Amino acid sequence: MQRTLCLVKPDAVNRNLVGRILSMIEAGGLRIIALKRVRLTLAQARGFYQVHAERPFFDELTRYMCSGPLVAAVLEGENAIADYRALMGATDPAEAAEGTIRKRFALNKEQNAAHGSDAPETAAFEIGYFFNRLELEG
Ligand code: RTP
Ligand code: MG
Repeated sequence: MQRTLCLVKPDAVNRNLVGRILSMIEAGGLRIIALKRVRLTLAQARGFYQVHAERPFFDELTRYMCSGPLVAAVLEGENAIADYRALMGATDPAEAAEGTIRKRFALNKEQNAAHGSDAPETAAFEIGYFFNRLELEG
């Protein structure tokens, strides 16, 4: 079994899409094993996106990610990382496949409704960023 971190981003929480996005995740065969709604500080958003610190979009991205509450979920499945990324679709909704979360709900390349870990190492870091051991044992 593999685990990955899902964030329903502020644009989607703001538009009341949490239930619909989580329901697509469950329909896609992934199990939600931990769940919370939080609002990040700018420092926390910068810490989460450390890997993107040198990217031109880093400041804008981190400001956006703390602009409102988000919903964090840990997803479990045999190939959870790849399966959830397929379910999310491409970063830019203009390039996302039909039926994906981003095609359906993203506003643009930045405000793209959802986040998903991209590798086992980043998944472990990102899950630990939002959830402690006790919250992952239920
Ligand atoms: P994520 O990490 O959120 O799951 O998205 P991703 O892997 O598909 O994309 P990534 O390259 O990791 O970028 C992280 C997030 O930064 C914003 N972004 N903005 N303005 C831009 O050109 C741009 N490029 C990326 C998006 O919110 C993207 O999801
Ligand atoms: Mg990424």
